[in-house]
Amino acid sequence: MKVILVTGANRGIGKETIRQLARSGHKTILTGRNPDHVRDAQDDLAAEGVITDACACDVRDEKQVRHLVQYVEERYGKLDVLVNNAGIFLEGSDSTKADIDIIRQTFDTNVLGPYRMIEALLPLLRKSGDARIINLSSGMGGLTEMNGGYPGYRISKTALNAVTRIFANDLAADKISVNSVCPGWVKTDMGGERATREVEQGAETIVWLATADKVPTGKFLRDKKEISW
Ligand SMILES: NC(=O)c1ccc[n+]([C@@H]2O[C@H](COP(=O)([O-])OP(=O)(O)OC[C@H]3O[C@@H](n4cnc5c(N)ncnc54)[C@H](OP(=O)(O)O)[C@@H]3O)[C@@H](O)[C@H]2O)c1
Repeated sequence: MKVILVTGANRGIGKETIRQLARSGHKTILTGRNPDHVRDAQDDLAAEGVITDACACDVRDEKQVRHLVQYVEERYGKLDVLVNNAGIFLEGSDSTKADIDIIRQTFDTNVLGPYRMIEALLPLLRKSGDARIINLSSGMGGLTEMNGGYPGYRISKTALNAVTRIFANDLAADKISVNSVCPGWVKTDMGGERATREVEQGAETIVWLATADKVPTGKFLRDKKEISW
């Protein structure tokens, strides 16, 4: 059974990913930026019979990330899978202008957050022998599908895809796979009620990348199939 950490997992796709992986018997660590919400999510899952470990961590905060690394090291001594799921979408429905402050905030969470987590957890991922890093991207960040609007979110996910490619290359010698996933348009607080997919489907490719015997690296995937950058 693997040790799997999911960021921003107190709700939405992250919480569902924890639910599916913990049900399969993996040792999961549910993290999120608000300690009360993290505890509530852990309790909700326990009420369903799903047991998960939990530790609060804001991916923007170096000190909290260091504390999380220490927590994982002391309890597990290694990490097999890091799911960089935490993300924000701050732009309203009619957002065509680039508000620099929104772009900066979005970049801090959606790009520097995963970057920080990877750098900090690398020593523990290297102890796995079959480690995997899964970055929650979006078709909205794909250059091939790129349209107008939502510049902060789009640019952040394009940059996150670059993070995926860079680390996939640099960590190939360590046999650590690094992939980007687009979950599709999913019914969560972020995706809204009009979204076309349920959270179960949104988590499917993530769970597959975390647990399948053989997985690719350096790819952008939706529904377990490669899509264009
Ligand atoms: N839903 C979709 O249609 C869709 C489509 C494409 C890609 N995605 C991507 O999939 C991922 C999950 O999306 P979702 O729909 O599940 O979103 P969501 O329901 O809005 O959940 C986002 C999660 O990220 C957490 N978070 C935000 N900032 C954080 C930070 N600084 N540190 C730690 N956690 C933080 C949130 O915590 P709080 O509860 O404290 O806010 C929440 O738990 C995101 O990266 C998103 O961009 C979603």
